[in-house]
Amino acid sequence: MNAASSTVRVGVIGFGQWGPNHVRNFRAIDGCDVARVCDASAGRLALARKQFRDVETTTDPAAVTRATDVDAVVIATPVQSHVALAQQALEAGKDVLCEKPLAATVAECRALADLAATHGRILMVGHVFLYNPAVQHLKVDLDRGELGRVYYMDATRTNLGPVRRDVGAIHDLASHDVSIFNHLLESAPVEVSAAGGFFLQEKIEDIGFLTLTYPRGVICHVHTSWLNPRKVRQLTIVGDHKMAVWDDMNNLEPIRYYDKGVTADHYSSFGEFQMILRDGAITIPKVRLAEPLMKQDQDFVDCIRSRRPPAADARFGLEVVRVLEAARESLAQGGRAVKLPPA
Ligand SMILES: NC(=O)c1ccc[n+]([C@@H]2O[C@H](COP(=O)([O-])OP(=O)(O)OC[C@H]3O[C@@H](n4cnc5c(N)ncnc54)[C@H](O)[C@@H]3O)[C@@H](O)[C@H]2O)c1
Repeated sequence: MNAASSTVRVGVIGFGQWGPNHVRNFRAIDGCDVARVCDASAGRLALARKQFRDVETTTDPAAVTRATDVDAVVIATPVQSHVALAQQALEAGKDVLCEKPLAATVAECRALADLAATHGRILMVGHVFLYNPAVQHLKVDLDRGELGRVYYMDATRTNLGPVRRDVGAIHDLASHDVSIFNHLLESAPVEVSAAGGFFLQEKIEDIGFLTLTYPRGVICHVHTSWLNPRKVRQLTIVGDHKMAVWDDMNNLEPIRYYDKGVTADHYSSFGEFQMILRDGAITIPKVRLAEPLMKQDQDFVDCIRSRRPPAADARFGLEVVRVLEAARESLAQGGRAVKLPPA
């Protein structure tokens, strides 16, 4: 941090699809400045200079990670490059915001978590859904017991494209849902099984169906795909008291609570019972719109200033990758359930 002005000077590596959003946000945050943008592609850098006229650009990541006028590094490159870039930045004493997933393997995540701890640096992972106002709303209500005991969650994240060449749909898309499940349930799954399909590329799955068992028997399922005619972003949560549906494509009324349920009513002394359906009101809470990425980037700056660890720290990022790795293992073994030992 520039002591004279206390400005947080950010360097962004990766100016592809997602990086420009970080540049836009960090430039808009008070007391923050984007000192440099790096991309391996000269064409992308030309675009960066066109879009953000006064920004300095480089094709050399070291000119960002090792620059004395950079306090914090944002990594928005494909996952295979995360570990080397984050390592360079942490070793140079920079705080790091690394896009999700933190790294390709659990071992790499662990090495980065250790490195951040050794150097006393903040390592935040871009699990942006933790900053989604609807997810935050659901979290508050779940913690308050609004839905009662959670039985299961079911998520759908489908669309036609964008098709990635570096990682499959499970790493790319289901990483979001795993982060949401882990965050809402404040735990990690104990067992994972996955099915998937490789239709467009040989080793990169286009679709994934993941079933995750969490502590206390909560089942979470996600259908993820970039090979689907419809863009669906939906999560259903079923509790023993109420049920909720979050539709992330609905900006006006993203969440609906259903006062619905089924209870067993015992009516004889011989253990007989009947199922009573409760089909009550549907309520739509007010959820205030805000750009989750802006909230995430602002939180990164707050963490840098206060030295507070972020919610999506390296440990959180590692837990997500542990699930993704187990899912791929299950996929390779024809859907066999893979146990996840406690971290
Ligand atoms: N949170 C979200 O919702 C969200 C959305 C999209 C992407 N992402 C994440 O952001 C990251 C980037 O995704 P993208 O869609 O922008 O990818 P992309 O392929 O569109 O862009 C990546 C850019 O990084 C550059 N690059 C690659 N290796 C580099 C290196 N070693 N040094 C410098 N530049 C390098 C490439 O030239 C390219 O311009 C991924 O981790 C992805 O998962 C997150």
